[in-house]
Amino acid sequence: MTDPFHAVMDITPRPPIVFTAGQGSWLTDTEGRRYLDFIQGWAVNTLGHAPRPIIEALARQAETLINCSPAFYNDQMIRLSNLLAHHSGLHHVFLANSGAEANEGAIKLARRWGAKHRDGAYEIITMDHGFHGRTLATMSASGKPHWDHLFEPKVAGFTKVPLNDLAAVTNAITPRTVAVMLEPIQGEAGVYPATTAFLQDLRALTHTRKILLILDEIQTGIGRTGRVFGFEHAGISPDIMTLAKGLGGGVPLAALLAHRDVSCFDHGDQGGTFCGNPLMAAAGCAVLETITQPNFLTRVEQAGAYLAKGLQTLSKKHRLGETRGQGLLLALDLGRDSAAATVDRAREQGLLINGPRPDTLRFMPALNVTDAEIDTMLDILDTVLAKDPA
Ligand SMILES: Cc1ncc(COP(=O)(O)O)c(C=O)c1O
Repeated sequence: MTDPFHAVMDITPRPPIVFTAGQGSWLTDTEGRRYLDFIQGWAVNTLGHAPRPIIEALARQAETLINCSPAFYNDQMIRLSNLLAHHSGLHHVFLANSGAEANEGAIKLARRWGAKHRDGAYEIITMDHGFHGRTLATMSASGKPHWDHLFEPKVAGFTKVPLNDLAAVTNAITPRTVAVMLEPIQGEAGVYPATTAFLQDLRALTHTRKILLILDEIQTGIGRTGRVFGFEHAGISPDIMTLAKGLGGGVPLAALLAHRDVSCFDHGDQGGTFCGNPLMAAAGCAVLETITQPNFLTRVEQAGAYLAKGLQTLSKKHRLGETRGQGLLLALDLGRDSAAATVDRAREQGLLINGPRPDTLRFMPALNVTDAEIDTMLDILDTVLAKDPA
């Protein structure tokens, strides 16, 4: 029998399951088996699978205008840009298709600003273990240790420092430094938050030294932490911010946002065939309008607190490590390298969770997940952990 997956490029070890449908927190495979989804497209499906607001926005927009050309304005591009500017306090928005593309744009914008306003400064300080994407520049900006020698030569101009170490940032600044770039919570690294004090001190330092602060909110933005943007918890504001993942609620949509003082691209510096297309922008508007309705984010905070408490209880019961994160971006430290086995056994029991590190489980359910679904997830995980041979 031929391998049914043979034409799909083998870029990651996928389990032999084929999903065909999704509803809310649940996915269904070709055998009709249902899975409780606490991965949700890698923190992407803000409103779960097949949410009404996105279905309706896409259907309406597909009937009206799918694509016109990035060289023309369209009404959805304008609507989404205005919504993002309004909620972020930043001024200019470039819509893109993926997080890596938005981050490439952020790096280019910082370098353009450096060329125009800081005598050609171009170096960007980024964090050890940070993750910014899989293009050459964003891999170079990322601090994943095993990427250090991959796809050489690297894009030059990135200096890495430890997260939450202001002295290290200060020492890394040179006359060529144009920006500091980081995630408010390092998601792929295993959910490690930048502390409020670090973010505030970094904002003050970057102001004093005339360096830009770039926040990669691709995983933390769009309500994931209980606020529209993660930076709100620290009461700061970046010069440049990137969004993707949750912004489209499941469709490919990203954004590069900039303060008007640093928004300095000349015509032709930035662009892309699909950037700002009305179909994806309409989905983004539906997501933003939903998550900014009264009480939506309060409920995210409540659900996050409920999930965190449940994970702490499991941790005590099974003698595991700490829980980390904020809102509905949470991790459970297993205290041993058993994440991959736990993820596999959970999937066999109908639960989808992710292990970003050998010793860590990550939970990123839909933002409208119910307490009953959290309880079901905790019950399955409890059973799986009870059987953990480690
Ligand atoms: C913080 C962060 N930045 C950038 C990216 C890359 O986004 P994309 O996979 O859409 O290119 C990710 C993806 O996981 C991310 O978590």
